[in-house]
Amino acid sequence: MDFEKTILCIGAGYVGGPTMAVIARHCPEIKVIAADINPDRIAAWQSDELPIYEPGLKEIVEEARGRNLFFTTDVAASIAEASIIFVSVNTPTKTFGQGAGRAADLRYWEGTSRQILEHATTDKIIVEKSTLPVRTAEAMERILNSKPQSVRFEVLSNPEFLAEGTAIDDLENPDRVLIGSRNTESGRKAQAELVDIYLHWVPREKILTPDVWSSELSKLAANAFLAQRISSINAISALCEKTGASVSEISKAVGLDSRIGPKFLRASVGFGGSCFKKDILNLVYLCEHFGLPEAAAYWEQVVKMNEYQESRFVAAMLKHMFNTLVGKRIAVFGFAFKANTGDTRESPAIYVCRQLLTEKACLSITDPEALPNAQRDLADVEGEVDFCTDPYEAAAGAHAIAVLTEWDDYRALDYRRIFDTMEKPAFVFDGRNLLPHDELFELGFNVIPIGRAPMCHF
Ligand code: NAD
Ligand code: UGA
Repeated sequence: MDFEKTILCIGAGYVGGPTMAVIARHCPEIKVIAADINPDRIAAWQSDELPIYEPGLKEIVEEARGRNLFFTTDVAASIAEASIIFVSVNTPTKTFGQGAGRAADLRYWEGTSRQILEHATTDKIIVEKSTLPVRTAEAMERILNSKPQSVRFEVLSNPEFLAEGTAIDDLENPDRVLIGSRNTESGRKAQAELVDIYLHWVPREKILTPDVWSSELSKLAANAFLAQRISSINAISALCEKTGASVSEISKAVGLDSRIGPKFLRASVGFGGSCFKKDILNLVYLCEHFGLPEAAAYWEQVVKMNEYQESRFVAAMLKHMFNTLVGKRIAVFGFAFKANTGDTRESPAIYVCRQLLTEKACLSITDPEALPNAQRDLADVEGEVDFCTDPYEAAAGAHAIAVLTEWDDYRALDYRRIFDTMEKPAFVFDGRNLLPHDELFELGFNVIPIGRAPMCHF
């Protein structure tokens, strides 16, 4: 079949794969290629076992794959073929040198720019899909224009706002799409071309067309605001535990103010995920770099509050279980950083489990999707760690259950049956306020929620 044009995405990960699948679904006249240097990932995209779990993704991939959606490791040939190239490679936090622990590590990003420069033989629109420091597009333009040649590159910023677990819904019905461009004739022309693609399924009024720098910074700001709400409610949860107030009542009362709104006010063991921490630290670095230490300290506190919340959770387990966890079995319910994903990047479960093992506890970890990643995350630890798919098996013989991911499945379990198989006194530490605390208390459990006074039988 003859396609109108070819779009390429370099980086077929959590963002690149689903985004290209949705574009392919809505634009059958366009050939869509997702390319990655990782052959295992590409093989998985071509198989029945996709490399990531997202509700609804498999159906969309299966419908478009081989029709107008293709996965490949041949990045060079795909660059030559495509007229629009999305770049969705990973941009982790730098772990070395200047800005270590804060700045974005742009090695994959720069590597991609150089690859594009090497293999492009016709004009291209380059679309920043990765989350990047403000003014990265400028650096990219400099690299792309570093060779005297006739090929022209126009760099756009099109940050992604999808959340894992709801990626397909977020891509299908985005709150907004940002397409930032240079305010030049060629910049606006490239912007219009990308707007046309999104118009296949996104209403025009939801497509914003700011300048490139505002688009880049909007993404960091959006993630910082979301994480800030979680840290704010978590700070209140600490006060609730001391005063007998209930954080869920407070979330409800505060969230009903239409100026504030109800979302992202769920107190928890802490936020995880590959992006919140990294993007806020990147924002902190930018503020410092531009001589704004007060602004930097303000945002850094969001991350510090999150670390405090994680450590408070472990401290509460230790305190309630008579100040020793040595040899005690803890059933860990959930390892993913949130429900409906197998992703464990920066999951609070990693910190909690490592701390529990330092206290010489034994762990039985269960999770419906994340056990392979959990096994990798804890591959280097010493101590007794079992992984089992069945939560009943995980809880049998345990002294405590620690709920670390808000999987619906855990609500539907028979807790009387679980209680009967556990060591006594039996504890539930509910890091997600997921379970019916009063009912569990009635069954005999000692229940320690987040942001509510502990419910103990002694
Ligand atoms: P990911 O690690 O899942 O995927 C990135 C992929 O890029 C990897 O498969 C890697 O092999 C590939 N890659 C790296 N260098 C390459 C190269 N030179 N050529 C080809 N492939 C290359 O990362 P992700 O979660 O998809 O995130 C990508 C970007 O999107 C990040 O900047 C992230 O901040 C941002 N983002 C992520 C999410 C999310 O929910 N995960 C949401 C919004 C934005
Ligand atoms: C987040 C943003 O929501 C996306 O808009 C953004 O595109 C993405 O980061 C990114 O840039 O990577 P994601 O990390 O996938 O998406 O998931 P969220 O739903 O935001 O949850 C993040 C963490 O916060 C999870 O650990 C979740 O359990 C926790 N959380 C969320 C709370 O503890 N309380 C809440 O009220 C909400």
